[in-house]
Amino acid sequence: GIEISALLKETGYVTLDQGFVNTASCASAITYIDGDAGILRYRGFPIEQLAGKASFLEVSYLLIHDALPTPAQLAEFADKIRVHTLLQEEMRTFFSGFPRDAHPMAVLSSAVTALSTFYQDALDPTDPEQVEISGIRLMAKLPTIAAYAYKKSIGHPLPYPDNSLDYVENFLRMTFGLPTVTYEIDPKIAKILDMLFVLHADHEQNCSTSTVRLVGSAQANLFASVAAGINALSGPLHGGANSAVLEMLEQIRADGGDVQSFVRRVKAKEKGVKLMGFGHRVYKNYDPRAAIVKKAAQDVLATLDRPDPLLEIAFQLEEIALADDYFVSRKLYPNVDFYTGLIYKALGFPTKMFTVLFALGRLPGWIAQWAEMMSDPTTKIGRPRQLYTGEAERQFVPISER
Ligand code: ACO
Repeated sequence: GIEISALLKETGYVTLDQGFVNTASCASAITYIDGDAGILRYRGFPIEQLAGKASFLEVSYLLIHDALPTPAQLAEFADKIRVHTLLQEEMRTFFSGFPRDAHPMAVLSSAVTALSTFYQDALDPTDPEQVEISGIRLMAKLPTIAAYAYKKSIGHPLPYPDNSLDYVENFLRMTFGLPTVTYEIDPKIAKILDMLFVLHADHEQNCSTSTVRLVGSAQANLFASVAAGINALSGPLHGGANSAVLEMLEQIRADGGDVQSFVRRVKAKEKGVKLMGFGHRVYKNYDPRAAIVKKAAQDVLATLDRPDPLLEIAFQLEEIALADDYFVSRKLYPNVDFYTGLIYKALGFPTKMFTVLFALGRLPGWIAQWAEMMSDPTTKIGRPRQLYTGEAERQFVPISER
């Protein structure tokens, strides 16, 4: 093969940074992470001060508008979202085209792309008013779409939103309610889900957010950009990790619960065997979100009186990993996804929906990052360079002579 170092010398000015390990793609004033110290702040506020104290809509407002809302501002923001929760009827019928077993993340991204067909006169990414209403529409409609994706997968009728409820309650009722039975919303469940959304609300230039920015840098509209972000999030190395963790825990349990032998397979780098929910590109210390989620998982399973043997397996995995040189030397700690799946499961969500919940939480971050990029006059279209490793010039041979 061609030596990469020789190519770098040849091109002189192009840097090769696979996976963007050291390359900043933008300047941003939204989220601060110190990966070595395990610090995460939204607009300067430590995550520990926001989680469980500020509501998801409050944090969404903070991310998008760079200020904590006053009660009046929050009420106005919530009202604006509330009046847009309905989907067009054509959009409802759109769901019938998917197979019953469609993955809800694929349905989610398809439906978000389809949203742009309904708002063609309000898609201009350079018009701040159109950007604002697109953001509000997305915030309002994504929970409705997410609930429909779930209802579709179980063959249930698609409900309408109930705008007398708050953001998370409305989503829970659409997801778990049925026309034939009154669904009693458990405020404890609503509160936990709200907090998990807060923990996922932004995480600077991760894979999906970078995707949202890259697509938007071509001045594609917000729906198109966010749909691309949802697709990026679906990968098991990113948002898909939360369901992969649960599948891993279930597999360990099915194999007799031998945590040590699973860890040995991870360390032997057996193909396809990773400790899912561990490791992070930026955190080389305990992910501060994981610490909050771990505590919440313990509380939830105790409060809801739904003990889960998988929690014990997760604790054991963490304990063994944190004392093992393989993980210690590589600075691999639990990330936000390690314990979230256990909570989602306790709340009644099927595994396939876990990454959809991540997307609901991440949405205000995508909106804020996209809007920040659009309002920055120095923004350029994202267009990475490459190192060409293919053939030098060749001569074409007509097909009749080959
Ligand atoms: N299990 C076992 N080994 C791991 C793990 C893991 N989860 N994560 C990293 N490693 C090892 C790698 O094999 C590598 O070892 P080596 O130096 O011997 O080659 C070393 O640790 C460094 O790992 P990289 O893959 O280079 O780290 P990178 O920053 O590229 O990847 C990632 C980060 C994708 C998160 C990785 O840790 C991973 O795959 N984790 C599991 C999936 C996961 O939980 N993803 C969620 C991420 S957080 C989020 O999206 C919310």
